[in-house]
Amino acid sequence: MAFHNWIRRVTWFAGPAILLVSAPQTLREAASAGLLVGTAVRPSVFSEAAYSVTLAREFNMVEAEDVMKWWVVRGDEGTFDFREGDEVVRFARAHRMKVRGHCLVWDHNNPDWLEHGHFTTAQLSGLLQQHITTVMKHYAGQVFAWDVVNEALDEKGRVKNSPWYNQPGIGLSEKGTAYVEQAFRWAREADPRALLFYNDNGGEGLNAKSDAIYAMLKDFKLRGVPIDGVGLQLHISQPDFDTAAVAVNIARLAALGLQVHITELDVSLPLDANGQARDRDLLRQADVYRGVVRACLQNPGCTAIQTWGFTDKYSWIGSHSRGTHGAALLFDRGYKPKAAYDGMRDEISKGRKRAQ
Ligand code: XIL
Repeated sequence: MAFHNWIRRVTWFAGPAILLVSAPQTLREAASAGLLVGTAVRPSVFSEAAYSVTLAREFNMVEAEDVMKWWVVRGDEGTFDFREGDEVVRFARAHRMKVRGHCLVWDHNNPDWLEHGHFTTAQLSGLLQQHITTVMKHYAGQVFAWDVVNEALDEKGRVKNSPWYNQPGIGLSEKGTAYVEQAFRWAREADPRALLFYNDNGGEGLNAKSDAIYAMLKDFKLRGVPIDGVGLQLHISQPDFDTAAVAVNIARLAALGLQVHITELDVSLPLDANGQARDRDLLRQADVYRGVVRACLQNPGCTAIQTWGFTDKYSWIGSHSRGTHGAALLFDRGYKPKAAYDGMRDEISKGRKRAQ
């Protein structure tokens, strides 16, 4: 049989089968219109082909894991260094991805000159407003949403001690969440088109911290403080984590008129002496990833699901747990998709209706 006839026959027979099996192949293909599926990134490894190929193939949103934080952008008081942040934006543009910005106000990951500078409240207030304004204006039109304030509350829901609050603070110490509010007001002025988020961890389900976050955000909404959304970090380390409580919390936050983003999802597992996780933990991990996706998709106000990195080769959990935990992400160290990846993709493919 002539080759072109043969090929015609094969396609004729195979055609319907191909249609039947053309399920989404990647996370970003699986995501229905409007759902953002993102990950934190390190531009220092964009040059690694497997890293860039996997990133571009799977995700439609990125966030700088570190390179838009004070400690990278503000090497010294007089300088703004946007080089690595700009690389993230360039990568995103080349691959049709959105960029989330992280983060403008936090008591961690600040440069030494700021931590030990013995500034007055007036100086700190000036520094913070200048930082928010300069960074947001630099990325205006490129970063669509910012974590304006990160982790302002402790696990009991009290405002945390921090250089911005009361050590010595920007002039609003002992006034509770007033400094958080001030940061949001400066942020809206700096880039009126960016979505402004409050981001935190440990208050994703139902507990004293999530009640306090809810109360703060409700107060902000009632008084017209400019805020558009809330980020739930979701660094999970218990394999029996209760994702049903996350769904309930998402519902009450969304009912305030806020967008909810899952911002830093990872599920860390104990590692053995060879650095391996147990098989059964990897399966339970997949269930947690599924549960989180379901909790988000149940509510139309939850518009983004983002993981804190995507390959176990580059995850903050290793150093954070001093090597005792890891294997927290969707791909293994060789970029092979794990059960967690299949779980997340299946659940995303089901879309919002099936999640209800
Ligand atoms: C972590 C980064 O992953 C690390 O590379 C860095 O050394 C420390 O910060 N909550 C946050 C993130 O909001 O910014 C943190 O990221 C993880 C916890």
